[in-house]
Amino acid sequence: MIEKNKLEDIISLAKRRGFVYPSSEIYGGLAAIYDLGPYGVELSRNIKDYWLKTMVQERENIVGLDSAIFMSPKVWEASGHVENFSDPLVECKKCQARLRADSLLEEIGIFADEKMNLPEIQDIFSENLDKLKCPHCKSSTFSKLKKFNLLVQSNLGNFTGDLEKDPVYLRGETCQGIYVNYKNVLDTSRVQIPFGIAQIGKAFRNEITARQFIFRTREFEQMEMQYFINPNNMVKEYDDLKNLRWKFYLDIGISEKNLRWHKHENLVFYAKEAFDIEYNYPFGFKELEGIHARGDWDLSRHSEFSGKNLEYTDPKSKEKFMPNVIESSAGVGRTFLALLSDAYVFEDLGEGKSRVVLKLDKKMSPIKIAIFPLLKNKVELVKKARDIFNILKSKYMCEFDDSGNIGKRYRRQDEIGTPYCLTVDFDTLEKGEVTIRHRDSMKQEKISEKEILSYFSSVFN
Ligand code: GAP
Repeated sequence: MIEKNKLEDIISLAKRRGFVYPSSEIYGGLAAIYDLGPYGVELSRNIKDYWLKTMVQERENIVGLDSAIFMSPKVWEASGHVENFSDPLVECKKCQARLRADSLLEEIGIFADEKMNLPEIQDIFSENLDKLKCPHCKSSTFSKLKKFNLLVQSNLGNFTGDLEKDPVYLRGETCQGIYVNYKNVLDTSRVQIPFGIAQIGKAFRNEITARQFIFRTREFEQMEMQYFINPNNMVKEYDDLKNLRWKFYLDIGISEKNLRWHKHENLVFYAKEAFDIEYNYPFGFKELEGIHARGDWDLSRHSEFSGKNLEYTDPKSKEKFMPNVIESSAGVGRTFLALLSDAYVFEDLGEGKSRVVLKLDKKMSPIKIAIFPLLKNKVELVKKARDIFNILKSKYMCEFDDSGNIGKRYRRQDEIGTPYCLTVDFDTLEKGEVTIRHRDSMKQEKISEKEILSYFSSVFN
């Protein structure tokens, strides 16, 4: 079921509360590109930090990398992206909208095989023309299908002006930076197969249709881990990776009922086997992460195109083989949207009162503790609240707020998912007690000022 209003509510909250802004909004925006506002940056950082913690810090045999966005054009030839990384484009003859032919077919329940070539998709498209409609103007008159490559070209270092001859691309997936550094990492760190290389970074795709807010954008961040294995161990390693990645989403607070596996029957050019973890977004179950068995496709191709031997020699058995790769490829933006969708709750409090609350897992909350003096114009309360804020801010992402009435301050923190509000009131001055208010239950409790640090250390561990 499409919860259209829920998506609109989330988009509105994301804008109103400073999570996500349309890019260059004062100039009318740029389609399918977004900026992160103050709370968006924190949420995104929490996702990435937790990913790094579970994928690198807690793993002895996975190391990090930060490769450049620009790479030799040869990389994209070897990877197969120049030839194969394309979507079937069709134009509406009436309103000139550029559309993905396979997405239009999906709308009427026909799923084009990823291995199908353009003429085959064209045939299916033509056979079903009477059922297909442009989503913008509802016309059924379309151009012939064209292959549209998703790689984004730049003019970096191009002084001839001939981009066809001399293209430099912005990377279409971060993992290519990992493959071309596989040998460097092997030679300069203490890893042995099986081992992984993990990196987080921007990727760029010239998506034909980019809808559904930050779900499909032209610039986005990926969290990718490529695991290099002996091909004989593929089945077990692949299963272990799938389990690890499923657990990640439960650990960041996504409810299991909103997750499911999707096995790809039709595989993209590099994959031997592929599963997606799908999340039940307000517009239905869609891909959140891809877990692919890429075989030796990438290393063999880079070996062939670069002329460098990328084979591995097992130090004990002396067995020589081309490592196989299994990858986990997750989008930061899609995880961000899944978290917002899962956490967004509208609560009717009775007596005409209601609230919107983001019931985020505490690890993910942009602000961990909000600190308020009960009254803005009582100097002693403000000073005491500031002292507490100054102590807590070195340990936790905190916010100090003395504006408006206390109820409004609570509502604002509810909407950005802050798990705890700490209020300094007259009891603080008289009895040394502060009030802690819990986001989900809205219950309040008094604790001694002396206990503040130990209290938060226990609730955040
Ligand atoms: N290295 C493999 C790879 O890139 P993919 O299925 O094309 O595989 C992996 O992308 C993940 O990257 C997706 O599951 C999604 O989370 C994210 N992603 C891909 N295209 C995206 C886009 N246009 N906007 C936002 N996220 C995207």
